Amino acid sequence: MRKTIGIGVAGAGAIGIRGALSHLSLQDVKDYGVRLAAICDPVPGRAKAAAEKFGVTAYYESYEELLQDPNVDIVTLCTPIGLHYKQGVQAIEAGKHVHFNKTMTTRVEEADDIIRRAAENNIRVVASPGMMLRPENRKKRKLILEGELGQLGWAIAGTARGTVAFHFEEEFRTGENILTSVNPEWYFKKPGGGPMYDITSYMLHELTGILGPVQRVTALSGQAVPEVFYQGKRIAKEMDDSTILMLDFGSCLYAVVYTTIAGEITGWSPNIYGTHGALIGSKFGDTELKDPALTQPHVKGEHAHMREAHVFADIMQLVDWVRDGTPSIVTAEHARHVVDIIESGYRAAETGQTQQLCTTFEPLPLEQL
Ligand SMILES: NC(=O)c1ccc[n+]([C@@H]2O[C@H](COP(=O)([O-])OP(=O)(O)OC[C@H]3O[C@@H](n4cnc5c(N)ncnc54)[C@H](O)[C@@H]3O)[C@@H](O)[C@H]2O)c1
Repeated sequence: MRKTIGIGVAGAGAIGIRGALSHLSLQDVKDYGVRLAAICDPVPGRAKAAAEKFGVTAYYESYEELLQDPNVDIVTLCTPIGLHYKQGVQAIEAGKHVHFNKTMTTRVEEADDIIRRAAENNIRVVASPGMMLRPENRKKRKLILEGELGQLGWAIAGTARGTVAFHFEEEFRTGENILTSVNPEWYFKKPGGGPMYDITSYMLHELTGILGPVQRVTALSGQAVPEVFYQGKRIAKEMDDSTILMLDFGSCLYAVVYTTIAGEITGWSPNIYGTHGALIGSKFGDTELKDPALTQPHVKGEHAHMREAHVFADIMQLVDWVRDGTPSIVTAEHARHVVDIIESGYRAAETGQTQQLCTTFEPLPLEQL
């Protein structure tokens, strides 16, 4: 008989609700033997409100209590990025498998420690965003490996969300009750705030998932707008809002990855240019690679029409891995490499010196595409 898997959700903010609770409370997930075992949030009353709304068995105001709950097999960290390392270590020590909402950690040595501790304690780790779970991204890598683009020249990807406080417009920030007035201040603070860890993480996972690991990085970075206002309250920004990375993949293949305050030119998916053809977003020439009928694993029925389905898909990777021992293609080593690019990029900008990356990962081989 299929083992029931209990999920503990840490953080009842935007992604806790939209990515975890909204999806995991649906009937098909229950039928699959997955239970919302517990939720925690330190803001008084928030975990209780979320538990009542989504039918979660237990609620707590501290993460430590959630970790002590024997019904929790997997923890999904829906907390600010700066907390992920410490909370990941605590989960591993408590014997819980961990899903990290991007980004896994803020520093390579923290990611190393998570990977080492997980291996020592027989714990599974999946870190979002699992961009290569998207069928169109696997098609892109396949086209490249089969030589359809010719010799690769360069790529570009990025967003212009450096200052426009788009998180302020989320339905979880604009209301007045405990679930709709979640303060997004951490998005601007050290460590773990800023658009690089929050958004560029998507582009870096996709780009490296398709092209493979990066060897060197150089960058320019700064803060163009020093403050933002949330509900009339000033937030002094600590993280840069404008960063342009240049990545060296070897063999003269370079990429530009930007996060700026204006002028988004690519969309979230990269443009990748070769001597015989180019991938422009989700298109190869006139061919659209994205097929609405082909989704990430588990993203079926209602899930396919809901927001943050990719977060749900990543959590379900961990469920299947814990239950059947099927390892996910979404690896912690890939997530660590992205952390390395971001951390080394900031160091390159600060020192003016191109940085050699100290991590790598195995990109998907042709037979898995
Ligand atoms: N908002 C998005 O669009 C989005 C999308 C995908 C992934 N994410 C990722 O999800 C994570 C959370 O982002 P968010 O937008 O949901 O943030 P948020 O600010 O909306 O919610 C964070 C919640 O965590 C709670 N929290 C703070 N400290 C805690 C602790 N010690 N233990 C448990 N809970 C604690 C806060 O009270 C808050 O309710 C980040 O890693 C982010 O990058 C966000």
